[in-house]
Amino acid sequence: MSTYKEVKKVTTHVLQEMKQRGEKISMLTAYDYSMAKIFDAAKIDVLLVGDSASNVMHGHETTLPITLDEMISHASSVIRAVNRSLVVVDLPFGSYQGNSKEALNSAIRIMKEAEAHAVKLEGGEEVVESVKRILTAGIPVMGHLGLTPQSIYKFGTYEVRAREQEEAAKLLNDALVLEEAGCFAIVLEKIPSALAKQVAQSVKVPIIGIGAGQDVDGQVLVSHDMLGINKDFSPKFLRRYLNLYDEIKKAVEQYVADVKSLDFPSEKEQY
Ligand code: KIV
Repeated sequence: MSTYKEVKKVTTHVLQEMKQRGEKISMLTAYDYSMAKIFDAAKIDVLLVGDSASNVMHGHETTLPITLDEMISHASSVIRAVNRSLVVVDLPFGSYQGNSKEALNSAIRIMKEAEAHAVKLEGGEEVVESVKRILTAGIPVMGHLGLTPQSIYKFGTYEVRAREQEEAAKLLNDALVLEEAGCFAIVLEKIPSALAKQVAQSVKVPIIGIGAGQDVDGQVLVSHDMLGINKDFSPKFLRRYLNLYDEIKKAVEQYVADVKSLDFPSEKEQY
């Protein structure tokens, strides 16, 4: 029996209902108007304006350098493209770790200036006061546990997290704490699938995985990776649906050749 139900607009409540009836949630990152328009037309449930924009849009090595102003700029272009998808925006590094008032102010800027639908932040128990304070303003919050790229200098590597019992127990507890605080969903990044399954079964809110196996409530990928725009990143969990790097390069090489050979523009392509 199909669990799919047509909806005009995805909300946090719709995601909750999807978990309840077993319909998997689809989520992709988006950072600009044109891509977001295509993804929304393709009926992606959630668009994440991820701080991975720091890597794939700005060329930084980590997610740490991107600023709140830059995130707001990406988010407002995505929002202008969207009719159906729920748009969640990452609070960037340095915009919420100081204290819960700073976190609330940053979340308010994202909601007010970009007109986003929700925010996401990384961490468990250590950010719970901020999660609660943001929620007091009526702003929905998505959690993010497991491999949290803003902590890369603490972890030292992008390896799978929570393989050891102690870290796995903390992660499960963090998920319960975030649910209790009122998060509407939680991303689990790069952890063993058995642990992700246990978390998804232990909380009522949707669990969205990236490198967390199939027994969760939805999947998220970085769009530049799944479209093959970025060829430098090939983790085991990534499925590439296109090879856009090669396709675009081929098209541009052809254009260069056509311009040089006077093939472009032709008689028909001029006034
Ligand atoms: O910034 C991002 O792209 C993310 C996803 C990996 C979940 O947080």
